[in-house]
Amino acid sequence: MNSISVENLSAGYGSVQVLDRISLSVNDGETVTLLGTNGNGKSTLMKCIMGIVRPTSGSVRATIDGAEHDLVGRAPEEIVDLGISLVPEGRRLFPKLTVEENLLLGASRPSAMEQLPASLALWYK
Ligand SMILES: Nc1ncnc2c1ncn2[C@@H]1O[C@H](COP(=O)(O)OP(=O)(O)OP(=O)(O)O)[C@@H](O)[C@H]1O
Ligand SMILES: [Mg+2]
Repeated sequence: MNSISVENLSAGYGSVQVLDRISLSVNDGETVTLLGTNGNGKSTLMKCIMGIVRPTSGSVRATIDGAEHDLVGRAPEEIVDLGISLVPEGRRLFPKLTVEENLLLGASRPSAMEQLPASLALWYK
């Protein structure tokens, strides 16, 4: 059982409040889409989930394989290690790295590293 649950989340930048008590949840097998005009806080919400922006109040909780994790206050790399990732808009590849090196950067989690031989075989299939 896996889920992400955001409750009453508020966040902003300095004196500018962007999110005002946002609540939503995403459960196993669900796809949730955020729609909104430019600058209305979609990316800010994603950054709160990933630990890039610290919320001023509210909670972000993830249930992964039945274990609950409070994400607020955790570093982005800890959140990635839990298995949560953010794919930013645009094709932000590293142009001076090879295709394989770019792919390897996506395998930084311990469990992904364990599966690296199988992943490499799949990439070159
Ligand atoms: N680092 C920052 N410092 C100050 N203000 C910011 C910062 N990042 C975003 N903002 C402001 O926060 C508000 C929400 O921006 P955000 O990027 O979350 O919107 P968005 O819904 O993702 O927009 P878009 O559809 O253009 O991607 C905007 O007013 C934006 O100017
Ligand atoms: Mg955005």
